[in-house]
This record gives sequence, C-alpha cells and structure tokens, in this order.
Amino acid sequence: MVDKDFTIRPMNKEDFPQVQEIYEFGLETGHAAYEKSAPTWEQFISKKIMDMALVAVENDDPDFVIGWITAAPISSRAVFHGVVEDSVYIHPKGQGRGVGGALLDALIEMCLEQGRWSMHSWIFPENTGSAKLHESRGFTKIGTMHQMARMTYGEMKGQWRDCDLWERLLPLPDDPAEEMDVAEA
Ligand SMILES: CC(C)(COP(=O)(O)OP(=O)(O)OC[C@H]1O[C@@H](n2cnc3c(N)ncnc32)[C@H](O)[C@@H]1OP(=O)(O)O)[C@@H](O)C(=O)NCCC(=O)NCCS
Repeated sequence: MVDKDFTIRPMNKEDFPQVQEIYEFGLETGHAAYEKSAPTWEQFISKKIMDMALVAVENDDPDFVIGWITAAPISSRAVFHGVVEDSVYIHPKGQGRGVGGALLDALIEMCLEQGRWSMHSWIFPENTGSAKLHESRGFTKIGTMHQMARMTYGEMKGQWRDCDLWERLLPLPDDPAEEMDVAEA
C-alpha cells in the first residue's frame, strides 16, 4: 500500500486564511454553494462543529493546507443532534489525489466515535465531483429539493436552483440521551 503524501489533523485558527482561500476557490466554480463569498472565522466557528473540523496538509510542506472538511448540525433541535451535514473543499492543486476521500473517511470515523447516526450532504446536480466523492463513501442520493435559492453569481446567475440531498446512515446508538427529548419553545 502506498503511503499518503498528506496528513490529516484538526483545523485551528491559524489555518483559516488558507481554509478561506480554498473555500473561495470552490465558490468560484459556481457549483459548490449558493453563497458568493467565504465566511469570516467568527461566522465559520458559529456554524460548524469545530471539534469535527479537519485539514489536510502536505507532508513535504506541513504549513500548506490542501483541503478541509467540517460538519454542521442539520437543525437546532436537540433531538437531531446525531445528524450532521458535511462541507469539503480541496485546493485546485490538490484535487484528484484522494484528499477529499481521505478527509471524508476521517469525518465518518469521527461521527462513528461520537455516536452520530446520519450524515447529510447538499450537492448541486451539476457538481459531479462532489457527487462521486460522496457516492464512493457510501452516501445515497435521497432526492432533489427544488428552487431552494437563487444564484447570484457564476454561470447559473439569476436562476432559482435545485439541490440534491445525499445521506449516509451510520449505526444507531443504543440509547440517545434523554435530556435531548425536550420540545423547544
Ligand atoms: C469535490 C471535491 C471535494 C473532490 O475532492 P478530491 O480530493 O478531488 O476527491 P478525491 O480525489 O478524494 O476523489 C474521491 C472520489 O471521487 C471521485 N471524483 C472526485 N472528483 C471527481 C470528478 N470531478 N469526476 C468524477 N469523479 C470524481 C474520485 O474518482 C474518487 O473515487 P474513488 O475513491 O472511488 O476512486 C473537490 O473537487 C473540490 O474541492 N471541489 C470544489 C469544492 C466543492 O465543490 N465542494 C463540495 C461542495 S458540495
């Protein structure tokens, strides 16, 4: 087996300028997200589950971030805390080297360790690379959500755009915490 030429480790604040730049590269494709620009660090950490945020760095240049992955809660409702949505972005120079796959494998492993029971991914139908990546890691396309938002940039600018929902089920925990079973106001 050939060793990987990159290493996966937790993301930290010092990584963020590179994380943001890789995010922007992905957004520039016009097929990664509805949003036009990457968030600030403060916005990022307010939305993501930061103990599940990972970066991949080059072995021969460990300060160079080649990709990242995070998870976010799919809902603010506590009963759904076992369901997370992933985001994965790889530097254009790092694509096609197995980095996205390795990051997604690592995130799935963390979900298993934390007793999460389902993972979601929202993928534009036009984003073949992300669909293939998720399919290769056991995600199944559940369906297409229609007219979710209007694109404000890119080649689909002005169009109300559909998005596919992909799912990967994980083993169910024996006993989800009872304190989660309280209706929210
Ligand atoms: C989509 C993306 C994350 C894939 O990352 P990557 O590191 O290039 O993917 P990998 O090299 O790990 O490939 C993983 C699997 O997906 C497949 N794949 C990846 N990109 C592909 C493409 N463009 N076309 C067909 N298959 C592709 C690979 O063949 C591989 O399959 P295998 O494991 O069965 O061999 C990357 O292209 C990217 O960052 N795109 C821009 C941002 C983006 O769209 N993010 C997702 C938002 S939903």
